[in-house]
Amino acid sequence: MLKDIITEGTKYTMNTYKRWDIAFTSGSGCYLKGVDEKDYLDMISGLGACNLGHSHPVVVKAIQEQAAKYIHVSNGYWIKEQVDLAKLLVENSFADKAFFCNSGAEANEGAIKLARRYSYNKYGESRNEIISMTSAFHGRTLATLSITYNKNYSKGYGPMPEGFKTVEFNNIHALKDAITEKTCAIILEPIQGEGGLTPADKSFIKEMREIADEKDILLIFDEIQCGIGRTGKLFAYEHYDVEPDIMTLAKALAGGFPIGAILANEKLSSVFNPGDHGTTFGGNPLACSAGFATMNYIINEKLWEKAEEKGKYFKSKLEDLSKKYSWIKGTKGKGLMIGLELDIKGGEIVEKALEQNILINCTADKILRFLPALIIEKTHIDKTIEVLDSIFQEINVE
Ligand SMILES: Cc1ncc(COP(=O)(O)O)c(C=O)c1O
Repeated sequence: MLKDIITEGTKYTMNTYKRWDIAFTSGSGCYLKGVDEKDYLDMISGLGACNLGHSHPVVVKAIQEQAAKYIHVSNGYWIKEQVDLAKLLVENSFADKAFFCNSGAEANEGAIKLARRYSYNKYGESRNEIISMTSAFHGRTLATLSITYNKNYSKGYGPMPEGFKTVEFNNIHALKDAITEKTCAIILEPIQGEGGLTPADKSFIKEMREIADEKDILLIFDEIQCGIGRTGKLFAYEHYDVEPDIMTLAKALAGGFPIGAILANEKLSSVFNPGDHGTTFGGNPLACSAGFATMNYIINEKLWEKAEEKGKYFKSKLEDLSKKYSWIKGTKGKGLMIGLELDIKGGEIVEKALEQNILINCTADKILRFLPALIIEKTHIDKTIEVLDSIFQEINVE
């Protein structure tokens, strides 16, 4: 069966992903069932999209019930399910308004439009520049590639949109130097994901907020990976005692169902008017029912507290490993968004973990990335540590 999937997949799908030779038939909690009938412990939860684990009953029920009622209706009509999710997000965050779309890149693309339109309305056309950070990842559309640091991703796709600048992450002097009268917004992940699980410094964010307030520059926080309970707070900005003007969400917002969202504060609430922005599927009843069920559960259960507690435990165990092997530099990240930084490339370790039925990921070449479901138990962490330890013993470092 797996052989056929790979053969036909190679024949019929575009070759955009480097895929491991495994496919799954079902999932439950922290486990996925492989076509080989083996159970795989998922320590990456669909790249941080399944914070409630696989096919959580609350999400399944919401999707099944909503699908039986109606799946889609145009945004030309009021959609109660969309209103309910918007209200839940607004009541539990800094924001006053929400807009829904279908993915993270689309949310960031919309956030760029919202920021530019705010600036255009108030200051005119030339104040349109957006500052982003080194090692940032914001998506794969043309505009979001312009604010994504790794230029391999945009190679051959030019000409790229203009009006973007990059400064060194966590370097307030570089940020201050880069700001001009053309700057309209700053975008960053409060805790970088793909770039290496690096949290922004508290002082960096605080000073950035002060400068932004002084100059009426908008702060956009991309919480697509670090939001939704993952880092020990419902939203990562809460670690910093500041609020962004705009926040983008996607990934875990609907328990694995595709969705994206732009949340914005009161200052931006009258920027978009009918026709200024839109999407066919964004905020449709099915996605929003899944989103409401997911967010309601996370909020009621205060799952970010579990992420904090389990994250501490996991990190301490990884720290123990890093003391044991000289080629491990240490841990990074917050809550259950954890990196283990190595002196060597991590790809081989990911492969060996897969051979032992554990799904992990490697980012920035040398950082093992763990984004398990927030419902993870200590036994899952202990199993992962045991397997990693056995793999590390076999690794031959020159
Ligand atoms: C921080 C961040 N922003 C944006 C994106 C893009 O999201 P999507 O893949 O849903 O377009 C990702 C995806 O990994 C991400 O981690």
